[in-house]
Parts: sequence; structure tokens; C-alpha cells
Amino acid sequence: MHSADPTSLTARRSGPLKGRVRVPGDKSISHRALILGALTVGETRICGLLESEDVLHTGDAVRALGARVERCGAGEWRVHGVGVGGFAAPEQALDFGNSGTGCRLMLGAVAGCPIAATFDGDASLRRRPMRRVLEPLERIGAHTLTSSDGRLPLTLAGAREPIPIVFEPQVASAQLKSAVLLTGLSAPGETVVIETEATRDHTEKMLAHFGAGIRVEPHGELGRRIALAGQPELQPQAIVVPADPSSAAFPLVAALITPGSEVILDGVMLNPLRAGLVATLIEMGAAIERLETRNEGGEEIADLRVRGSALRGIEVPAARAPAMIDEYPILAVAAAFAEGTTVMRGLKELRVKESDRLAGMAALLRANGVAVDIDGDDLTVRGRGRAAGGGFVATHMDHRIAMSALVMGLASRQPVQVDDTTFIATSFPGFAELMRSLGADLR
Ligand code: S3P
Repeated sequence: MHSADPTSLTARRSGPLKGRVRVPGDKSISHRALILGALTVGETRICGLLESEDVLHTGDAVRALGARVERCGAGEWRVHGVGVGGFAAPEQALDFGNSGTGCRLMLGAVAGCPIAATFDGDASLRRRPMRRVLEPLERIGAHTLTSSDGRLPLTLAGAREPIPIVFEPQVASAQLKSAVLLTGLSAPGETVVIETEATRDHTEKMLAHFGAGIRVEPHGELGRRIALAGQPELQPQAIVVPADPSSAAFPLVAALITPGSEVILDGVMLNPLRAGLVATLIEMGAAIERLETRNEGGEEIADLRVRGSALRGIEVPAARAPAMIDEYPILAVAAAFAEGTTVMRGLKELRVKESDRLAGMAALLRANGVAVDIDGDDLTVRGRGRAAGGGFVATHMDHRIAMSALVMGLASRQPVQVDDTTFIATSFPGFAELMRSLGADLR
């Protein structure tokens, strides 16, 4: 084992995981609740907000732009918004920390206001591409004043007279779509986004919930055409944030690969555009039961009962990537414990996440004795139903690599150590405590 760095953590082979837990609120919905609340005149109440670093950065940003944001209790927040186009120029640079979602959505929200703002983030976020977002926002009328090579830090001047556009993103990205729709709120007439592959639709759903005129129609085989009527008067609303399926994925896979486990995950959101991992694991032979399906805050949710399962390798088609884009690192761990080969296709976008996740996943598995190949944008994992473990995993400022490695250690023969767990707080505060409450040996 490496030195006793307080940010490091080691996962050891654990007995069956048992218990019933609720993971924190959905990150995507939490960012959007704060942003749309800030673009509404009046008071929006949010219940179950994810109080993670990423989301708190978004809260600070909308506050710096003139909205009133108050915490009234655990997960209970109120936002007094300034209305569409009503943001005021911030006095300082907006810091989005590690969060691509917060940054890109807020670029969209600011681009529809006649102000300039500087956007910045941590070393991971400074490496991520922003040009893909800036390009359509410039078509609407925003200007990028300073930026090196389309990266942060950058200063954006919002459009004085926003023009509605028809935008066909070249990458399947909900962040990109959402940024354009948020700018489009300020434009007169109809802003249209045409996706060839549908991505998570929380922005569209929440805009409709706040009273915007938005039409969503199928487009082609897998896509959608989204048309937003500009300059709506958004009405304040109550928002209930369901449990985040991307966080639930960690205890879920931990229970699957730790023999004899039985865990119930309460109230997990099962929006079809987020449910790719559950579908994939069920194809792999996972015992996952939906106990009580219901509706919360406009989303389908269910309690999931998960039992330790013998998994088998499968092929995961590229078309499934948008519905499970954040879940590949933990799927790769499940694939290592499956019998047989799992091929995950079309993972190009993983190279520009919080870290180069494609490389990070391969390194994580190899460090723990699992055979992996990367061929172009495809990852092949040769599962043998078990893993040696014993690896020391570099997390590269990436919360999902850190949590995936720790889950792996719970079922590996030798312990798995991660170098730095601080970034887990960007999405899943309380991860280690929640896992320990189920019986995970994390020290
Ligand atoms: C998100 C969209 C996804 C996802 C991210 C959250 C969102 O990013 O990876 O964690 O809330 O819109 P891309 O849109 O860049 O794929």
C-alpha cells in the first residue's frame, strides 16, 4: 500500500452488502433547478437538491449574477429569480470547479443576457472543450471575448439582440443542447435543436414545467426535434429532485459483484434517457427488480432491489451511449466480474469528460489484473468472473473513476487503493459512509 495520504482510500474484499439506502439527488436536475429558478421571476422551491460541490458552484454562479439563493434546510433551497435575460454582470469570475454541466449550461444562460462574464474552473475543467458550446451561442449573437483555444478561463459577452437559430449538434450532448435552449429563451421566435440521437431531456421537461412553450417531436430513428418559443415568462414552481441514477450505479454494481448481497436503492430516477446502465446490466444477467414504480417531480422513479449475480459479457451498442454516458466506468468494473467478453462501442465522448475516461477505465482495470483493449472508440473487457485487485489507481480529478475503483476493491482478491477521493464530493457527498452502511470495507 502507498503512503497514508488522507485523501486516499482503500477498498477491501467485503462480505455480502445488505441494507436499504437512498442516494443523493440527481445532479443534472439540481443544476437545472437552480438555473431555471434564477431565470424565473418569483420564488422557486427546490426539495432534495444535490448539495455537492458541482451544484453548489452553480448556486454561487447564479447568486453572483443577481438571483437570491437560500438554503432553508437539508436539500431545501429557495431561488428568487431575475427573469429571462435579467442576469447582472458579476463582479468576479464565475468558478465552476470541476463541473462541465454547470459551466456549459451557464454559458448558455449568460449568452442570452446583455452582460459579460468570465468563466473558470479547476485544472480538469480547464482542459475540457468549450468551443462546441461557444459556436452555436455565437450564432445566436454572443461573443467570446477572450479564451485560449476554446478552453477556460474565457470571457463571454452575451447577445444584445439574440437571434433564434436552428441547431443540429455534431455530438450527442445534453449540455450542448441545454446551453442553446437556455440562450434561446432570450431570443424572439423559435429556437430549434435537432438531435440525431436523443440525450437526457431534463431541460426540456423542466422548461415545460416552468411554463415555456416547448414542442418535442421524434426525429429520424433515434433523434428528437425540440422547438422552444422564445421570451416566455417562466412561472416559479416547486421542484422535487429524485435520487440520481448515476450515483445509484455505484452501490448497485457493488451489490451485483459482491456475492450474497441484497440491497434496496430507494427512489431511483428511471428516466428512459438515463436508464441505459440498468438495461445493460439486466442483459448481462443482473438480478435487478423494480419494486414500486411511481412518479416524483415529473420523473418515473422506482425502488430497485439488487442481488449479487453471476454476470456474463455482452456487446453494448454505440447507440446506447447517450443513455448511460456517465456509467461506463462502473459498467467496466461489472464487465471485469462477468464471465466472458464485454465490448462497449462508441465511447469517443469519454475522452473529454472530467478526465480521459477511456484511458482511465483501461488503466483502472489493468492495474487490477483485468485484460482490456482499446480499439478506436471501443473498449473490450475480458471478464473472468473475478479480479486480482491489488492496484493503486490514479483518479485524475475524476469522481467516477474514484468510485468505480473503490467498488472494484470490494470484490477483488487484493485491496484496491485510490490516490485521491476528494473529487467524489463533486457528485456524491457521503459516498464512503453510504457504502460502509451497507457493509463495504473502505478505509
Ligand atoms: C449532463 C450531460 C452529460 C453528462 C453530464 C451531465 C447534463 O454530458 O456526462 O454528467 O446534465 O446535461 P454531455 O452532454 O457532455 O454528454
